[in-house]
Amino acid sequence: MHFIVMLLMGISLHATSASPQYESGKKLYFSKGCNGCHGVTAGGMNQYPSLAYRRKAFLDNKLKEYRAKKASTQLAQMMIPFAIMLKDQEINALTTFLSEYNEEATRQKSNFSIRGDGGS
Ligand code: HEC
Repeated sequence: MHFIVMLLMGISLHATSASPQYESGKKLYFSKGCNGCHGVTAGGMNQYPSLAYRRKAFLDNKLKEYRAKKASTQLAQMMIPFAIMLKDQEINALTTFLSEYNEEATRQKSNFSIRGDGGS
């Protein structure tokens, strides 16, 4: 019996332990306002793409392209002012958080609603 309890505790501890990198990426995601467009659960909204569970290398590349003011569409140009303020280590933290996304607790409290339709 004790063994099973310990085992379960071990599993849940493992599931919730996040690296410092992940935690700082999570803070940045909200402090930099990413949630305003990509959603509190990073699941995307309307024309804003979902970011959670995407490949880290893909996300890194995208953010570095935007930071270099490369955006192939008018919609994507919206990202430039947000990417331009990011340091390499912040991009790394953000994409760690997004690619490893594991936030059961926040999944329920998504109450964000977006204004307008982005003019399209
Ligand atoms: C004002 C709205 C807005 C904010 C705030 C915003 N984004 Fe975006 N994001 C967009 C739009 C629009 C696109 C491009 C969609 C497209 O190309 O179809 C995008 C694309 C991306 C992509 C590429 C995804 C893909 O599928 O191509 C990444 C990664 C990304 N954003 C990360 C972030 C991060 C990290 C932050 C916070 C620092 C952030 N975004 C803040 C609107 C926003």
